[in-house]
Amino acid sequence: MRGPEIDANASAAPTPARRPSGFSSLVLHLHPRVVPAAALRFSLTFGLGGAALVLFLLLAASGALLLVAYEPSPERAYGTVAALVDEVRFGAFIRNIHHWSANGLVLVTVLHLLRVFYRGGHLPPRRGNWIVGVLLLLLVVASAFTGYLLPWDQLAFWAVTISTGMLEYVPLAGGALMRAARGGAEIGSTTLARFFVLHVAILPIALLMLLAFHFWLVRKVGGVILPRGVGTDAAPRGPLVPTSPGLTQREGVVALAVVAAVLLFAAVANAPLLAEANPGMSPNPAKAPWYFMGVQELLVHLHPLFAAFVIPLAALVLLFALPSLAGGASPSGLWFESPLGARLAGWSALAGALLCGAAIVLNEPLRRAPPWIPALPPELRGGLLPALAVAGAVAAVGFVAKRRGANRIESIQAMFSFVLAAFVVLTATGVLFRGQGMALSWPWTPPA
Ligand code: HEM
Repeated sequence: MRGPEIDANASAAPTPARRPSGFSSLVLHLHPRVVPAAALRFSLTFGLGGAALVLFLLLAASGALLLVAYEPSPERAYGTVAALVDEVRFGAFIRNIHHWSANGLVLVTVLHLLRVFYRGGHLPPRRGNWIVGVLLLLLVVASAFTGYLLPWDQLAFWAVTISTGMLEYVPLAGGALMRAARGGAEIGSTTLARFFVLHVAILPIALLMLLAFHFWLVRKVGGVILPRGVGTDAAPRGPLVPTSPGLTQREGVVALAVVAAVLLFAAVANAPLLAEANPGMSPNPAKAPWYFMGVQELLVHLHPLFAAFVIPLAALVLLFALPSLAGGASPSGLWFESPLGARLAGWSALAGALLCGAAIVLNEPLRRAPPWIPALPPELRGGLLPALAVAGAVAAVGFVAKRRGANRIESIQAMFSFVLAAFVVLTATGVLFRGQGMALSWPWTPPA
């Protein structure tokens, strides 16, 4: 499907044989007229950034339709959603599209972040766009979370109660932060009104503006990162091909595949809608949305100060700082930097997953504080000591990687993979393996 190649030394685009169609001219506002032939390779990006954009557009379209039926008050919210699902033709289908696109967007945005990171796309000259990207991720999660409350069913009410309750563990400002998020001490009509405005106006507008900046920054540095060695001194990014149809056709295929996947999910799996919210009766277990379950699982094991504040804050700061940690090293643009980098990342991820899984299982009896454990202050026993142990394990991964000949970028990737795998195991445990009273149980165990 590769289009005709163009002399990379030519500074301007070739004279087009015909005027571009209306669609092509729209696309050419987003892209340059020509792109490096190497940029057409699917495995370069897996189209994940484009897939995220398509999901965002699906959310905007389905969300606008949902707004016709929805009323954001505790008295009416649940009824309007239930009526939409039960009485409006294709109402459930539209709601399902919105639900699956939202969850898909969180997942695809994270996968896109990982693609960028493991190809070195976060390093200079793309460092600024990485920061913009992390802000986009925060906005995507905030959008999904604020939407979670709107159906006002038991799932929504208690998930938001649990998640906003975690804010209380922030030292000094915790109580104030929690009340600010809820609009009062409890979840109620003010919370719903606040979440609604954030969800339908403030966050989508902020996302739109930041996305425009994100795309501009991608163009400004000449497109996505390419593997080193595709070009020559005279044409560093290799031969060029016309953007349309070379790139646009591929983007079209990704967009259609994403739309097809969402429609398929929406047709076969309904978005959950439990009984109407009952502030007096909490389900057991009461769980946060899946993207916060890693933190809720940490709360099962660690002191809340560390589980809900120190560790998430450290992770966020490190995420922003990842480009600086490489110390100016220049990436190869290959997946995992090199075959050695790929092996180290794989082994580190395996180690992170196994150690985290073992710690979760072994901590189960320790949580009941057997008498043979010395009585240490809880911040030490359940906070500082485990946090130091994790930091030590991460440092050990970096040390081993270096001993195996890894460069700085590969060592950081290995340490990142270790933490990432541990976080995935925490999340999966919280989502799948926690039953009544947050005790470990098999997903198929029936509720007592
Ligand atoms: C709604 C969320 C997002 C959308 C729609 C989006 C979209 C895109 C698109 C279309 C591209 C160019 C092609 C591609 O990589 O597929 C791109 C590149 C990029 N994105 Fe995102 N992005 C989002 C979130 C993020 C996040 C969370 C990060 C990282 C924290 C990030 C960092 C970057 C960087 C650094 C590039 C340039 C990478 C390179 O040159 O290889 N983006 N994004």
